[in-house]
Amino acid sequence: SGCTDTSGENQTSTDGVNVEETTTYIVGIDGEYKPYSYVDTDGNPVGFDVDSIKWIAEKEGFEVEIIPVAWDGIIPALMAGKIDMVYSGMTITDKRLEQVNFSIPYWKVNQSVAINDVNNYTMDDFMSGKYIIGAQSGTSGAQWVEENLIDTGIMPAENFKNTYSTFPLVSEDLKNQRIDFAIYDKPPMLEAIEGKPLSIIGEIDTNEEYGVAIRKSDVELLETINDGLTQLMADPYWEELKTEYGMV
Ligand code: ARG
Repeated sequence: SGCTDTSGENQTSTDGVNVEETTTYIVGIDGEYKPYSYVDTDGNPVGFDVDSIKWIAEKEGFEVEIIPVAWDGIIPALMAGKIDMVYSGMTITDKRLEQVNFSIPYWKVNQSVAINDVNNYTMDDFMSGKYIIGAQSGTSGAQWVEENLIDTGIMPAENFKNTYSTFPLVSEDLKNQRIDFAIYDKPPMLEAIEGKPLSIIGEIDTNEEYGVAIRKSDVELLETINDGLTQLMADPYWEELKTEYGMV
């Protein structure tokens, strides 16, 4: 249920006039996750996911308040009721499904690996575990490195810098050669390397799907979001959004 009014029923104001109370849901985003969710120069949340939830809200008749939340604390914030959903390029993972529900998938991505152009590193170098890899904390990319390079004994844990709170901090360190590789979802990686001496050298076929995370107890909200997403993905606006944010 929403953080503010959840009744959705007509209520009577003090002067006896019926006023329609609209439910407001608080949507948590990572404010530095271009092109899905970010904050424009005027401080307004924008992006593919932000525009999507605004469209869904209008169709389904609720209000949204969109607030940036630190990514590695975003599921705890959801569970604690500080936000009602996470709509910010979040991959549906088994680990997360233990804690929250996910909407139907709305997007597919793979992980990508980037280097600084001064180095000629290859994907074999990345997989060797001999170099320093950076990842945003609490991401599926970080989980991939842990499971495939660290838990397998290929890479010593100290070669993995995984405490960055945002991805721009990772790409900054790649630029300054404090790390050798960065791993991230490909669309935001493309945004992050643009205009910088950084390049994507490979993709990892993780075949991830993005979904909207919702508390397990909010069964009705899950249905509403699924209905909204189904409508959105069948609407011409979906294609417009893809074009606007350069996602083909
Ligand atoms: N898709 C990846 C994940 O779910 C990366 C997401 C990062 N998203 C963000 N809004 N920072 O872990």
